[in-house]
Amino acid sequence: MAENRTTPAPNLTELLAARPAFSMHAQDGLCFENVPLNAIADAHGTPTWVYGAASIRARHAALSAALQAQRLNVRVHYAVKANDHLAVLDIFRGLGAGADVVSLGEFLRTQRVRIAPGEVVFSGVGKARGEIAATLQAGVGQLNVESREELEMIASVARLQGRIARVALRMNPDVDAGTHAKITTGLADNKFGIPAADIPELYAHAAGLDGIEPVGIALHIGSQILNPAPYEQAYAKAAAMVRYLRAQGLSVSVLDLGGGLGIGYGDEPGISLPAYAAVLRREVGGLGVRLMVEPGRSLVGPAGLLLASVLLEKHSAAKRFIVLDAAMNDLLRPALYDAWHGILPVNATALHGPCASADVVGPVCETADCFAAGRQLPPMAAGERVAILDAGAYGAVMSSSYNARPRVAAVMIENGRAHLITPRQPVAALWAEEAIPR
Ligand code: LLP
Repeated sequence: MAENRTTPAPNLTELLAARPAFSMHAQDGLCFENVPLNAIADAHGTPTWVYGAASIRARHAALSAALQAQRLNVRVHYAVKANDHLAVLDIFRGLGAGADVVSLGEFLRTQRVRIAPGEVVFSGVGKARGEIAATLQAGVGQLNVESREELEMIASVARLQGRIARVALRMNPDVDAGTHAKITTGLADNKFGIPAADIPELYAHAAGLDGIEPVGIALHIGSQILNPAPYEQAYAKAAAMVRYLRAQGLSVSVLDLGGGLGIGYGDEPGISLPAYAAVLRREVGGLGVRLMVEPGRSLVGPAGLLLASVLLEKHSAAKRFIVLDAAMNDLLRPALYDAWHGILPVNATALHGPCASADVVGPVCETADCFAAGRQLPPMAAGERVAILDAGAYGAVMSSSYNARPRVAAVMIENGRAHLITPRQPVAALWAEEAIPR
């Protein structure tokens, strides 16, 4: 498996040093937000997702501070797809954030924690008529439209309900975000958005449609973006579009700048938030529109980990394998994107032992079920625990029950205590709703 890293992999000490929410104690071993991970594993078993509420709040505060330092008033709409757990959404509600959703299910999750419906944006390239109807009925704040066909569908649903749908047109800026091909969205041949050349005519058409109020432009160019340059290009194009539409006499009051802010999966920093905020101010700060962003990963990714146990070490002539109880059905990112996730042993002694190369794998019957290839790790005894880092975003939400593996437990650390927020699914729940035709 080719791992998706361009810089040398950090060692265990470097990984730990780059993550202030983690600490290593001689007795207790690895702690996250001061709670020993061994204690969580003893209480709740493994694999278990562990999220840190303080870490989520700190990530949100850092983004807000960077934007405020540029004297920008930007609404943060948390991208629910990154981690849709009610406990996570409730933190964002408490912080006064809005939400960005891509399905009725995500919308209803936001409503379950009482995020104001008017603070929710409904994005996505394929919204079903029923989803449009239900979210409009509930008072969704804005729908980001990705095609002429969808615009007409929203208009007809809104007319039937006697409502006016506030829509932004999602522009495809044809900018290369320089990220993994499977998570880039802003190139002309990606399925997302409307080509810039088609926006003016469609916006004018929308302005004349009964049931529609076009409020602005949206864009999202991809995910895990570490360099501000593609944002600069995309935001410059968005600003030019806003000016052009206004010159045509059209009203534009909203600019939705998308998400995509990248995090450091090794010991490198994530995208510089001050540099990103400076780009935002320079390119779109003076437009006199309501600005909004839709970050997901950068707010929750580093605030979560997957806690797993070693089942056994297995040696072949060529290789050493560390087999965990967690697998690709729990955390899919390494198998799907060759994503690199740091892996830390939980026992203090292991951290300082001599390391040797190992493939860290799960029990699923796929060669792709590999969390790390050729990773430098100390000898690991059966039952020892490891933390797979930065799994707070696109972790649990992308998991499946492949190989009849039940959904694992989740814990949130709040006020220095670990709270069980999802119980481990009983295995019989996997088939509880199945039927056999007779
Ligand atoms: N807004 C829209 C319209 C999006 O499509 C996305 C992500 C976001 C916001 C949030 O992007 P973020 O800030 O999280 O980068 N499963 C992949 C990532 C897929 C992202 C899809 N869209 C992964 O695990 O890397």
